[in-house]
Amino acid sequence: MLNTKSKELYEEAIKYTPGGVHTSIRNVDPHLIFTKSEGAYIYDADGNKYVDYQSAFGPYILGHNYKAVNDRVIEALSTTDLYGVGTTDLEIKCADKITKNVPSADQVLFCNSGSEATYHAIRLSRAITNRTKLIKFQGCYHGWHDYVARNMLSAPDMIGKRDPGSAGMMDEAIDNTLICTFNDLDDVAATFHKNKNEVAAIIVEPIPHNIGCVMPEDGFLQGLRDLCDENNAVLIFDEVITGFRHDLGGFQKVAGVTPDLTTMGKAMANGFPMAAVAGKKEYMERYNTNPGGDVWFAGTYNGHAVGTSATIATMEIMETEPVHKHIFELGDRMRNGIREIHERLGMKAYVAGFGSVWTTYFMDFEPKNYTDLMKNDAEMYVSYRKKLIERGFFKMPMNIKRNHISYSHTKEDIDNTLQAIEDVLKELI
Ligand SMILES: Cc1ncc(COP(=O)(O)O)c(C=O)c1O
Repeated sequence: MLNTKSKELYEEAIKYTPGGVHTSIRNVDPHLIFTKSEGAYIYDADGNKYVDYQSAFGPYILGHNYKAVNDRVIEALSTTDLYGVGTTDLEIKCADKITKNVPSADQVLFCNSGSEATYHAIRLSRAITNRTKLIKFQGCYHGWHDYVARNMLSAPDMIGKRDPGSAGMMDEAIDNTLICTFNDLDDVAATFHKNKNEVAAIIVEPIPHNIGCVMPEDGFLQGLRDLCDENNAVLIFDEVITGFRHDLGGFQKVAGVTPDLTTMGKAMANGFPMAAVAGKKEYMERYNTNPGGDVWFAGTYNGHAVGTSATIATMEIMETEPVHKHIFELGDRMRNGIREIHERLGMKAYVAGFGSVWTTYFMDFEPKNYTDLMKNDAEMYVSYRKKLIERGFFKMPMNIKRNHISYSHTKEDIDNTLQAIEDVLKELI
């Protein structure tokens, strides 16, 4: 794989930007400079083409530079943009679509990133309950802000302990976020008990995709719902990854469990910056976008025509075309194909996934939580991915990161990937 141009440009990038990247975990080896994207493919500065499974961490549910969405954005921008006063017709249409599809969404407010959405949902939960503490799960990611940036990809000796993700965080924020083990209702119940009448909310990725694909066990999400009801706490589903990717109604629709508040982002606008917080009307009306509301909600770029038109277009395509059928079928084809390869090679590994998302953990049982994932062979996980990148299949070369399939991927892409996976595994084992 030729990457002289990437190397040259990276030297330039680090002159202007610390580390040369604009999100910390983008700084991986090989450091490539990307210059073009189209459907299921991305291209680097040296002209190498990759089948893309990184999908920018998930937004591209239809594919990169998807013409039908781009055209709607361009069309919108030929007549409208952003006003900073009043309401746009596109905002109304977009909000109508979301509230019709997402079970928990009586009402919705727009912002621009998942981190903003989770910040807003948490602040609202504190106002509703007049409490401060928050329960989050080890390994889950809900954005970069102080309330949630702890116990993400913790080192083994820091699991469940005080593990802030950054210097400069407020002690009060760190200490008011309590950490539980995913799929362990007893742990959550005990945490409520120890912090009686102090927990404002549980925030949870209904499938913790930030650690690949750890599925909720039967009854776990319903158990969280029940514990929140018993303890008068707010249940927040962070569907920034699962929303729209797994169903137009989010994973809450698939699971049949309705949270009080939902955060959304990524796949909703097929790659354009757009996010939302939604929930029960009586709660949403506490935001001060409603006259008399006492919970601050603002943002210069909220409701920009780029995000609203992209969301409307993306949702319309998901409503009228077999998007989910296609990506789910390809997901199954990939997972089954990899399992057959493992069997042929006599390998013990666990192929995890749901719908269009999958990953192979190099361990011999199904992980139920972050601690289980310490059994994954991290070195193998990353070398496997690097070797696939060399062959033109891009998966994030980082431990326990997931892969995504889009509507633009074809059976042929999947079959070519499977062939490469078999070749790479033969080399590695
Ligand atoms: C589940 C989840 N919530 C929130 C966020 C934060 O979203 P953003 O990066 O758009 O701020 C992410 C980002 O990866 C996420 O995966």
